[in-house]
Amino acid sequence: MMNILVIGSGGREHAIVWKLAQSGKVNKVWAAPGNGGTAGEKKAENFPLEADPASQEGREALVEFAKTNAIGLTIVGPEAPLAAGLVDAFRAEGLAIVGPDKKAARLEASKVYAKAFMKKYGVRAADSKSFNDAGKALSHAKNHFGKKAKTSKKTDSPPPPLVIKADGLAAGKGVVIAEDVTEAEKCITSFMKKSALDGAGKSLVLEEFLEGKEVSVLAAVSARPGKKAVILPFIPARDHKRRFSGGKGPNTGGMGAVAPLPDFTPAAQKDFVVSILQPTVKGMEAEKMDYRGFIFFGLMVHNDRCSLLEYNARLGDPETQAVLPLMDSDFCALCEAILDGSLDSRSIKWKNKYACAPVAVAEGYPGNYRKGDPIAINAGGLDRLGAKLFVAGAQKGPGGFLGSGLRVTGGRVLAVCALGKDAGEAYTKAYDAIKFIAFEGIDFRSDIGRENDG
Ligand code: AMP
Ligand code: GLY
Repeated sequence: MMNILVIGSGGREHAIVWKLAQSGKVNKVWAAPGNGGTAGEKKAENFPLEADPASQEGREALVEFAKTNAIGLTIVGPEAPLAAGLVDAFRAEGLAIVGPDKKAARLEASKVYAKAFMKKYGVRAADSKSFNDAGKALSHAKNHFGKKAKTSKKTDSPPPPLVIKADGLAAGKGVVIAEDVTEAEKCITSFMKKSALDGAGKSLVLEEFLEGKEVSVLAAVSARPGKKAVILPFIPARDHKRRFSGGKGPNTGGMGAVAPLPDFTPAAQKDFVVSILQPTVKGMEAEKMDYRGFIFFGLMVHNDRCSLLEYNARLGDPETQAVLPLMDSDFCALCEAILDGSLDSRSIKWKNKYACAPVAVAEGYPGNYRKGDPIAINAGGLDRLGAKLFVAGAQKGPGGFLGSGLRVTGGRVLAVCALGKDAGEAYTKAYDAIKFIAFEGIDFRSDIGRENDG
């Protein structure tokens, strides 16, 4: 029986803690800092970390905590501590931790590095160029819109957009799809000259716009220098990034997720393996990466052909909240296999069901949003539907108002995940279930998984 530490405070981490607690191998799960949901799970307790886990102080506090609490395994949820070298700090002390080391985490933390890796190893992706000089990036953009504008006059179609990606972690604000040269100039200037992204965006990737449907493939990875690398993919999932139903409005951290995806056909899955997964494995081996953790392939799929938009060096949020409830294997054993090099002899069992997990947000999100409102939860109602609540932005507050004791602290407050025998049943159950949650100003998209096709 093992004590486990999960680092992070979102819905993804709540889902990880919940799944780990079901394992017969697990004695206790600590969440650092966790949230109001992780605190309420069986076997679980929060460690209220004061320093940011991405800071040196935070790293030291976590290493110390792991040593003094007999932690047998640590799992890192978010990208920032990975990019800052939390895994390196744990391994230097001989502590078992699931996540890529700092160098390998560049697959997410640096778009320029990730694009160079994709090109070098033949991972199919959009055509792109990297820039560290604003003048050169601007002339590339002008050239793109200028040339295409001239040719398009004949066909009367506008030039395709230009995708602008900031190097470095930018908390979801680092990608802009510029529709015209004015928008491109404004973005390049704000990223490169005005440092709008606080450290990120000193270099940029400018890339071709791809049409298609997005698919998220999360996977377990076990790669070590000099060893055969293994990537074991999970069932495909889809996030819905736009704030409003019908894919309208501003981008968000994710308004809900579904899994699996009927539109990710066997042909597309095969193409993913050949064009994306296998070249990634080859690249990890050739680069002698130490990557023992999870990876997220953000795909654009068109006519069953996959292109890689991005790697994330972790599990996706909110995809994890839809995918883990479908996993029929022991998550703790999977983490052990990632670390001990036995991942190649493993397979993951999945329930023959569909999951739908819409996210409830606070009024005003993704702008300034209401905070502090008490959350009412009809737990009996959720149980009757077999739905699971994953908390993201809510903490236990004083007073225990309305039974749950939770109060809104973040823009994305929680997700409700329901399973069904098909996508339609999962959708109906998830939206029946979300009615059992109430707080002032609650809002959610009404179309997450309605057709399970985007
Ligand atoms: P990324 O962080 O690279 O995944 O980009 C964030 C979002 O921007 C993606 O989820 C897509 O919706 C969009 N995106 C990124 N790259 C492209 C591209 N080359 N073509 C079309 N959309 C893209
Ligand atoms: N769902 C997208 C992400 O986790 O970055």
